[in-house]
Amino acid sequence: MEKIIILDFGSQYTQLIARRVRELNVYCEIHPYNKIPTLDDSVRGVILSGSPSSVRDAGAPIPQLEGIKGRLPLLGVCYGAQYLAYGYGGEVEPAPSREYGRAMLTVGDAADPLLLNLPATTQVWMSHGDTITAAPEGYRVIASTEDVRFAAFRIEGERTWGIQFHPEVYHSTDGKQLLHNFVVGICGCACSWTSESFVETTVAELRAKLGDDKVVLGLSGGVDSTVAAVLLHRAIGRNLYCIFVDSGLLRKNEFDEVLASYEHMGLNVKGVKAGAKFFADLAGVSEPEKKRKIIGRDFIEVFNEEAQQIRDVKWLAQGTIYPDVIESCSVNGPSATIKSHHNVGGLPEKMNLRIVEPLRLLFKDEVRRVGRSLGISEQLIGRHPFPGPGLAIRILGDITPEKVEILQNVDKIYIDGLRAAGLYDQVWQAGAILLPVKSVGVMGDERTYESCVALRAVTSTDGMTADWVHLPYEFLADVSNEIINKVRGVNRVVYDISSKPPATIEWE
Ligand code: XMP
Repeated sequence: MEKIIILDFGSQYTQLIARRVRELNVYCEIHPYNKIPTLDDSVRGVILSGSPSSVRDAGAPIPQLEGIKGRLPLLGVCYGAQYLAYGYGGEVEPAPSREYGRAMLTVGDAADPLLLNLPATTQVWMSHGDTITAAPEGYRVIASTEDVRFAAFRIEGERTWGIQFHPEVYHSTDGKQLLHNFVVGICGCACSWTSESFVETTVAELRAKLGDDKVVLGLSGGVDSTVAAVLLHRAIGRNLYCIFVDSGLLRKNEFDEVLASYEHMGLNVKGVKAGAKFFADLAGVSEPEKKRKIIGRDFIEVFNEEAQQIRDVKWLAQGTIYPDVIESCSVNGPSATIKSHHNVGGLPEKMNLRIVEPLRLLFKDEVRRVGRSLGISEQLIGRHPFPGPGLAIRILGDITPEKVEILQNVDKIYIDGLRAAGLYDQVWQAGAILLPVKSVGVMGDERTYESCVALRAVTSTDGMTADWVHLPYEFLADVSNEIINKVRGVNRVVYDISSKPPATIEWE
């Protein structure tokens, strides 16, 4: 399979480069700059990412480009371009003023293969503190901005280019065309990596790898585990044993509805109602991390017990996706990704299971596309993310079945309302939070003293940062009325207007 290799120097945009290349239906992989994989015939070209470091720093990341530069097509982006200049005898200095934000790029050589079909001037996104002030011999400027002469350059006699702007960022208007020029025009990629081809090759690989072996998989109701299950089901049919645990902490009716849709898809699935165990173990516990630990442990216990009923199972399947797999080369230590506790710790060793992860090469949006091409319903594919510990981390303080029921009723009104108003798909994630606060209200002639709920809705692309959504006041008014009128025990509704950072999406 043809591919592009992206060498990561720790830029926040590295994954975005990968996603843009893949949007061109070309498979690519991210590797740390100091762990370059073997470059076999399948590698068509290499991209050097940006970096928070400066090439002038004492500990700046320095790649070993022997065997790449001059042999394969090579594109340096931002830090990557500055390294190609500085590392080979050019000058890089602090920019007179930090070059950040939009700039107009003027194409100097419209016939250069990297710039084909770009307009004479085009907006690009800059984000760097340094700038190239002198380039080594044989480096030819092919495009500039007002402040940046070496905005784009080519090394004569090689298929090597450098650009100091970020083509992968949306604000670079013709960035996609430029990446297309590199990946397709220069590297010669055939653009044959599509959801359909992924399904076809993955199903064939899974069949060959698993043969007649039995596989067990934990379904969560989320997109990743569902898509992983359907792929495996296509490959090995009823030899895939799915287990779907009801912690009692899911949304209202969610367990029954999702279980029914799994069965409808033909999956070999067992639903396990274990709410009583979770409630018993959570009784009196208020501390968020403690709740998470108890829930994680209970999931594993319930899952293990069920898995051990299946005779001769050889494999454990997981819905791990690419962002969990990429070896991070962050300068500030590993990124603070929250891992789902659905990874079933301890089971593989205990039962001597091997691990199979059919989605480990895919980004989240690609998982969704694959899900669609597998015919999974939009209802399941388009669902908002939902945390593994469920409503337990949306009830501040201790958990009781009564509180869960109140929150389920509030959440249902809110989410159904979003759907009815056509807002659900505009929101990345929404939910309600039951606060440990009572306040005074008045209903009819009576004074009430009841709970307060917060509503939350955010936009985001990966959960790492998020903005609160400006839901229409009329919508909020209707939902608030309906909640207070229909849900006993709630007399006040507030809307959360905090962004992440500094807040988080969940309240615990
Ligand atoms: P925060 O609250 O950290 O959430 O801004 C970011 C994303 O992660 C989800 N989340 C979790 N998912 N187990 C999970 O599987 C957890 O313990 C957990 N905590 C937060 C959250 O819903 C959001 O999508």
